[in-house]
Amino acid sequence: MAAVEFTRIQKRFGNTHVLQGIDLAIRDGEFLVLVGPSGCGKSTLLRLLAGLEAVSSGQIAIGDREVTDLDPKDRDIAMVFQNYALYPHMTVADNMAFSLEHRGRPRAEIKERVDWAAQILGLAALLERYPRQLSGGQRQRVAMGRAIVRNPQVFLFDEPLSNLDAKLRIVMRGEIKALHRKLGTTMVYVTHDQVEAMTMADRIVVLNVGRIEQVGTPLELFDRPANRFVAGFIGSPAMNFIEGRCTSEGFEANDGAVLPLPCMATRPEGALTYGIRPEHFERCSEREGVAAQVLGVEPLGSDTQLNLRLAGTDVVALFHERLAVQPGETLHLRPRMSAVHLFDGASGRRLGAG
Ligand SMILES: Nc1ncnc2c1ncn2[C@@H]1O[C@H](COP(=O)(O)OP(=O)(O)O)[C@@H](O)[C@H]1O
Ligand SMILES: [Mg+2]
Repeated sequence: MAAVEFTRIQKRFGNTHVLQGIDLAIRDGEFLVLVGPSGCGKSTLLRLLAGLEAVSSGQIAIGDREVTDLDPKDRDIAMVFQNYALYPHMTVADNMAFSLEHRGRPRAEIKERVDWAAQILGLAALLERYPRQLSGGQRQRVAMGRAIVRNPQVFLFDEPLSNLDAKLRIVMRGEIKALHRKLGTTMVYVTHDQVEAMTMADRIVVLNVGRIEQVGTPLELFDRPANRFVAGFIGSPAMNFIEGRCTSEGFEANDGAVLPLPCMATRPEGALTYGIRPEHFERCSEREGVAAQVLGVEPLGSDTQLNLRLAGTDVVALFHERLAVQPGETLHLRPRMSAVHLFDGASGRRLGAG
């Protein structure tokens, strides 16, 4: 087990500035998830840590060792990829033993490590099978087995579940978390899926075009996003944003509709964005709320999702009940005051404390 520290990491590929100054301290034993849109630099950061790419500048430390210029094999890390990268002509046991054999470990030790990993991952009955005889989930487990036999200081996962169907992804999410609880080893996990990030992480790092937007626990990011990008990225369905400005009446949207504002010592000036999550609308009387025209209704069983036109903006509202409403109807809605966010129109920064 070990902590990991990135200091002022820059990475360029030719003229492309992929990572633009990453400072990040990962705690010993932590499950840290790197999340962000495709192309934001997640895999590159992981590959720098693994030593599969060289930094353009900056330092990387694992535990108390600086590893910036070390070969991958000397970094004491193990990586699990999206495509498993199993050897098709080798059995499960041989796939898991491969890296230990490559390092010239004694036979008895190899057998012991492979049996231990197979036990932990529920692969004991499958050791003599070949990859083609396994399901997707079993192959993913073998890929993890291959990583854990080496007992590394840090595990790296690069979108390991993206080739699995939705149901199996949820099962494997639980298995990887269980593995983390059993081993207690530092894990760095890359995904573009914010639900995966929310459900698995001790802490989440949100990356966007090569920069860190925010680091925090899942609920910190959900409740107190640092900026509009994080607010829109974390949470599903995504937060609604309405453009406008503050007046003495409340928040005046660009179309003139007025939304209520929480109490504030001073009302910010200039162009602002009002943020409210789909689940934070309440139905109310005409006098108490804002008119919303129903554009679409999605009955989800226990929930109802509505697509609405509210304050000149297309918004989504989610109710934890069945609603008998039809497209074309007008509802009146009130945002829950404690859940309203205001963002600076120019910088996107969230305003207000807490
Ligand atoms: N070897 C490379 N050469 C040139 N550009 C690269 C290379 N690897 C990645 N990139 C570019 O760096 C950016 C970040 O890529 P990547 O780290 O793979 O993103 P992510 O994993 O977040 O989707 C992308 O624009 C990608 O095209
Ligand atoms: Mg990637």
